[in-house]
Amino acid sequence: MSDLVAIRDLCICFNSELGTTEAVRNLTFNLRRGQITALVGESGSGKSVTANSLLGLLPNNAEVTGEILFTHNETTVDIAQLTERDPRLRSIRGDQISMVFQEPMTALSPVHTIGDQISEAILCHQSVTQEVAWVQAEEMLSAVGIASAGEAMHKYPFHFSGGMRQRAVIAMALVCHPELLICDEPTTALDVTVQAEILLLIRKLHVELGNAVLFITHDLAVVAQIADRVLVMYQGTLVEEGEVREVLKSPKHPYTQKLLKAVPQL
Ligand SMILES: Nc1ncnc2c1ncn2[C@@H]1O[C@H](COP(=O)(O)OP(=O)(O)OP(=O)(O)O)[C@@H](O)[C@H]1O
Ligand SMILES: [Mg+2]
Repeated sequence: MSDLVAIRDLCICFNSELGTTEAVRNLTFNLRRGQITALVGESGSGKSVTANSLLGLLPNNAEVTGEILFTHNETTVDIAQLTERDPRLRSIRGDQISMVFQEPMTALSPVHTIGDQISEAILCHQSVTQEVAWVQAEEMLSAVGIASAGEAMHKYPFHFSGGMRQRAVIAMALVCHPELLICDEPTTALDVTVQAEILLLIRKLHVELGNAVLFITHDLAVVAQIADRVLVMYQGTLVEEGEVREVLKSPKHPYTQKLLKAVPQL
């Protein structure tokens, strides 16, 4: 099976009056279908910038070179070449690749019901009636473990706890069955028990739906729990990659060794 994403020699710079910051340098890696790949690295190592580039979500002062090859229905597009107005970018975002951020309220509107927001995600990409979208949204809300989903559809985000909000965001991200789900530190803002539940949920839905996941974290304990493969970034470059078990058993790069030492229970 071909790789879902092939990143080749990706460089991302930010230009400002003060000069140029090189956030990502010569990054090359693949994301495989049906796998959870963790992307780890310390703060500022370029994880979010890399993830955002996959959705064409970089600000105007960003300069991108290299390739972000995304293969969907046997057609490959280079996301790095797509402009904001390109209709292919709109169908990639949310439909083929979707993203869950650290803070659920970045994805939720406070003034619309959960049901309206999840069904809107369907209506953006599929030509179905509002009634059909509503039913699909309710099924997804139930699949992410929200009890009494029918009633919950009529609630507003402020009625939900942080963990429930993140579940709703995951429902919204997965309702169009994207091939790739990107999670950028989705559990950092949650307390420890809720964190564990959300990790289990992402893993469970990944098994059921067969989507690939790119899971960003700086916590190797989380990597051990959720991922099949791991990519380690350090100061904008990829310094190590491999099967999770291999990397955790014998980390090669000093930064990975240091990260591992910070997790006593492993
Ligand atoms: N819009 C921007 N303009 C200028 N520099 C930026 C911009 N966005 C990110 N950077 C820089 O790019 C580098 C990588 O940032 P990035 O957000 O990808 O780090 P990260 O690995 O996600 O860190 P964290 O774990 O804290 O989320 C940092 O040096 C950051 O300052
Ligand atoms: Mg980040």
